[in-house]
Amino acid sequence: MSESIGLTAEEVLTTTRSVRKRLDLERPVARETITDCIEMALQAPTGSNAQGWSWMIVDDPAKKQVIADHYRDIYYPYREQKSKLSEGDAQSDRIADSADHLAEILQDVPALVIPLHAGRLEGADSFRQASAWGSILPAAWSFMMALRSKGMGSAWTTLHLPREKEVADLLGIDFDNWTQAGLFPVAYTVGTEFKLAKRQPTENLVHWNEW
Ligand SMILES: Cc1cc2nc3c(=O)[nH]c(=O)nc-3n(C[C@H](O)[C@H](O)[C@H](O)COP(=O)(O)O)c2cc1C
Repeated sequence: MSESIGLTAEEVLTTTRSVRKRLDLERPVARETITDCIEMALQAPTGSNAQGWSWMIVDDPAKKQVIADHYRDIYYPYREQKSKLSEGDAQSDRIADSADHLAEILQDVPALVIPLHAGRLEGADSFRQASAWGSILPAAWSFMMALRSKGMGSAWTTLHLPREKEVADLLGIDFDNWTQAGLFPVAYTVGTEFKLAKRQPTENLVHWNEW
């Protein structure tokens, strides 16, 4: 098992951020380190313990380039639309700037990881949707926290999904039987200090016994 950087569980839970500008593009990531993190992620729950999941890791430069091009094709129009609606506050501007950076460098990140759920969800009711997403997204978040625990980082992304079929074809994924849940760029982080994020106050979000 690859080295941990000695964070407490609370530190991992509260400082696993979306890392974009501080992804270290020069430092190689051993394949075993990524599979160690996936092994930790596989401790996440799945409905009926079905474990209907798979993990695609892309470290081939030509394939990363194609995926990054698909990502940018979707990202730039999306960003344009968002900036028209944006409130122009400092936090939104920072996120947009950081997201721009990720879009530019996506092909240069050492590896792109795509968690997959068995089956397709088109037309599925909320029970099937919740059961399926609930059987892959906890593991995806565990994967991000496992990376953090080892001094690496990622950003949860979904913007390649409008091109899910094209990416499936590129990677030989059976599109009719596997759903891609996101795309996680993986790299060591530049420095390992990350802060608590500003969120809405808990008391505004919690309901006891009545909405
Ligand atoms: C479902 C989901 C989809 C996301 N998609 C993208 C994406 O495509 N590209 C990106 O740069 N960030 C994406 N993000 C990251 C969010 O922008 C980020 O989580 C948010 O700004 C909060 O920042 P933090 O994760 O550092 O706390 C996504 C996050 C989630 C949960």
